[in-house]
Amino acid sequence: MSDLSTLAADLTAAVDAAPDLAALEAVRVSALGKQGSISALLKSLGSMSPDERRERGPQINGLRDTVQARIAVRREVLEAAALDAQLASERLDLTLPPPPRRRGSLHPTLRTLDEMVAIFAEMGFAVAEGPDIEDDWHNFTALNFPPKHPAREMHDTFFFHPDGDGERKVLRTHTSPVQVRTMMSQAPPIRIIAPGRTYRCDSDQTHTPMFHQMEGLVIDRAIHMGHLKWTLDTFVSRFFETAGVTTRFRPHHFPFTEPSAEMDVQCDRSGGQIRIGTGSDWLEVVGCGMVHPKVLVNCGLDPAEWQGFAFGFGIDRLAMLKYGMPDLRDMFASDVRWLKHYGFSPFAALPPLG
Ligand code: PHE
Repeated sequence: MSDLSTLAADLTAAVDAAPDLAALEAVRVSALGKQGSISALLKSLGSMSPDERRERGPQINGLRDTVQARIAVRREVLEAAALDAQLASERLDLTLPPPPRRRGSLHPTLRTLDEMVAIFAEMGFAVAEGPDIEDDWHNFTALNFPPKHPAREMHDTFFFHPDGDGERKVLRTHTSPVQVRTMMSQAPPIRIIAPGRTYRCDSDQTHTPMFHQMEGLVIDRAIHMGHLKWTLDTFVSRFFETAGVTTRFRPHHFPFTEPSAEMDVQCDRSGGQIRIGTGSDWLEVVGCGMVHPKVLVNCGLDPAEWQGFAFGFGIDRLAMLKYGMPDLRDMFASDVRWLKHYGFSPFAALPPLG
């Protein structure tokens, strides 16, 4: 009897003292496992006389039940403590600042494009798109470039090798083919802008082989040059966030507009910087004009009923002017120092409209 009491006291103390679940399991195995002390006692019942067994049986079984119950209680306590410890170790403080790392930025061309889209969208223009690889018809013929005319070479076109039918696709030299695609797929009235990449074999301070244009097209009844001039002047003063930008319209020639003009913005290029609103230099930013009647006819519209104007901005050039980059070639050189200096945060708010 006293040996059972001692064993009970020892086991209970060991259970209560187990510091974690593994230690508790070790105690359980030492008592109730196959080789355990209580298991040995239970086995010994088989070799006892019936009288002895009647007396010892309930005592040994009682001891087993007591120890089992004690273990269950201790296990619950230890499991709760283990869960608390795990939760504490996995705790994330979401109010801490993120670890420092390299952050990307928005290219000034993309930033400028976003600003332009915001201004034209407010004027009621929708955004249209077309492919970078164009066929000759959309890039030239439909736009009234005569066949074999040197005007096709004027654009320093990148031609593809002729395909099976002998047709040479081109990298579009301007976004004007989107005018054609839009007029052929939508009924007027039309009011779209079409931003995108354009390509010409040309490279100097204000030219790169790939650059970005934003086409504009308005087709409606009784549209005239005054609408065009108002639209461009309004855009320019909103874009530069000042009424003090001086522009000039020069007569020009484009096969797809009549009359045609180019608009320049006054700037100063001295000292390796470019500044607007001052100086004696001009930077051409947009070609424009009234849509040529032959282009309307090529696109299935009756010029007696519909007229329109079109314009094509150089997006990168507007970015240079607004943000002071002196050389267009730097914009696409992928120089990280340049990108870090001129790039924009994706969270920078757009300038206020109107
Ligand atoms: N496509 C012309 C260019 O690339 C610009 C332009 C667009 C001119 C629309 C008139 C009308 O130079």
